[in-house]
Amino acid sequence: MSINLNNVNNYIQAFAKSIDHDQVGHYVGPLKIGVDLGTANIVISVLEQSGRPIVGALTPASVVKDGLVVDYVEAVKIVKKLKLKLENILGVSLTQAATAIPPGTSKGNSKAIANVIESANMDVTNIVDEPTAAASVLGLKDGAVVDVGGGTTGISILKDGEVIYSADEPTGGTHMSLVLAGHYKISFEEAEIVKKDVLKQEEVYPILKPVVEKMASIIKRHVRGFDIQKIYVVGGASCFDEFQTTFQTEVGIETVKPAYPLLITPLGIALNSKTEVIMK
Ligand SMILES: Nc1ncnc2c1ncn2[C@@H]1O[C@H](COP(=O)(O)OP(=O)(O)OP(=O)(O)O)[C@@H](O)[C@H]1O
Ligand SMILES: [Mg+2]
Repeated sequence: MSINLNNVNNYIQAFAKSIDHDQVGHYVGPLKIGVDLGTANIVISVLEQSGRPIVGALTPASVVKDGLVVDYVEAVKIVKKLKLKLENILGVSLTQAATAIPPGTSKGNSKAIANVIESANMDVTNIVDEPTAAASVLGLKDGAVVDVGGGTTGISILKDGEVIYSADEPTGGTHMSLVLAGHYKISFEEAEIVKKDVLKQEEVYPILKPVVEKMASIIKRHVRGFDIQKIYVVGGASCFDEFQTTFQTEVGIETVKPAYPLLITPLGIALNSKTEVIMK
């Protein structure tokens, strides 16, 4: 099975363009909703049943850490706020949503994630693991997807559309920012800004390359023993131009990074929204 990366990229781009729109064109309900409670960003994605992206809302937040809710009240507040914003744009209530957890999240912690969404007045229709959500955007049935998020790097290996192996490791974009903060003797917040500045990428990437190599060497261990032809990387911390090359060289398996890696998992969560949202 081969994935048409152009089609995938166009699809993700359509979602990227829909984010933070303050109005939407004609759409056909019921809608599919996804809520990604990430370590660095909270994203709500809204799609038609066909999967066509309608609108999305994203905000940086530090209320969840690697699938663990660390500030429940604030988490609910943010989800409610994003939800209200989207409801005003769409003209309908959002009553159901899917969400995702990093692979290996305990039952108790997934329950806490679901509770945040329910406290924001949405029924949780499905809880998927993050790399699986990403795999559904890619249409990946066989192979590996690696999600390099803020807090962790997750991997899922799929065979015939089923996840046969998954793991989550505690290195991600936050770790990169800590390395930069140490290097430049600046605060974490300043380091985040420097890290994301496209104009500084050339200066910053060599400092972060060892972190990417370390992530890749961990992934290399996880894929050992599996017949993997290609690895797809997603997640905000893979945004660097050179990420893919560094990663591929270290792992020794062809590595593909689709467009807008930060938005792939949030988009995939909505795709996995199982039941239909009732229009009110
Ligand atoms: N342009 C960029 N260049 C480099 N890093 C970036 C860029 N944009 C975002 N990031 C980093 O990506 C990370 C956030 O990615 P993402 O939104 O995928 O994580 P998350 O889903 O919130 O976290 P997790 O999945 O680990 O819970 C942050 O560490 C952020 O600094
Ligand atoms: Mg994530």
